[in-house]
Amino acid sequence: MHIIIRPTADEVAVAAADIVVPHIRRGATLGLATGSTPVATYQELIRRHDAGEVSFADCRAFLLDEYIGLAPEHEQSYHHTIRHEFTAHIDIDDALVASPDGMAADPHAAADTYEHAIVNAGGIGVQLLGVGTNGHIGFNEPGTALTMPTHVTTLHPQTIADNARFFDTAEDVPVHVLTQGLGTIRRAGHLVLLATGQHKAAAVACLAEGPLTTMCPASVLQLHNNVTVIVDEAAASGLKNLEYYRFAEANPLKV
Ligand code: GLP
Repeated sequence: MHIIIRPTADEVAVAAADIVVPHIRRGATLGLATGSTPVATYQELIRRHDAGEVSFADCRAFLLDEYIGLAPEHEQSYHHTIRHEFTAHIDIDDALVASPDGMAADPHAAADTYEHAIVNAGGIGVQLLGVGTNGHIGFNEPGTALTMPTHVTTLHPQTIADNARFFDTAEDVPVHVLTQGLGTIRRAGHLVLLATGQHKAAAVACLAEGPLTTMCPASVLQLHNNVTVIVDEAAASGLKNLEYYRFAEANPLKV
């Protein structure tokens, strides 16, 4: 796991864009996350797109997750959110920005369909991830098997409370969701996890230095060979091995 620490959230976004852009230039299939953390990275990528530095014309994208019961045009659906925050502002083909079908009559069948669509597309090249305060990635809550494919699940009350800020009331947050599973996420070629702010310090410490456990779903990243974790100083503040991470970053292998 390659851990990059930057002083501020804005510098995290620049570091993330630096890592993702070479994938975009190769026409990679992008795995996109919602939530507030990646927004600054999306803004940086839009800026580089507008400056003519990068084109998404050869890319397609898969979202991590979706609320069950929110129509695509609902402001808080992830289908809408990713377009509003990112993909409507770049030259990606909108028909190739996929998300699980939160309105499907049979959500379990929709989960299978989504998993197959990812496989049929040749898998995800680079997957952006945020992390929940309880260590969830996508909507894989504590207790989720580390091998799961895309599936239907129930949100943890902590996640409902965390996400209530996007809705009028906590009661408006859907309780059920479709999410890529930890098994799906583990098959992506390169995982890039972003975390900023003191409230993410415990989750970052558990995913990077804690035991591999379903109680911290993001700890599954420890099983992947190509992971970059980019955090600001506040989110890094719970890490014990900081001196080593800083030393390793200051001394890259020169070839
Ligand atoms: C939601 C999303 C996750 C995201 C998490 C953290 O639960 N499903 O993909 O990582 O929120 O969000 P934020 O970045 O707003 O803290």
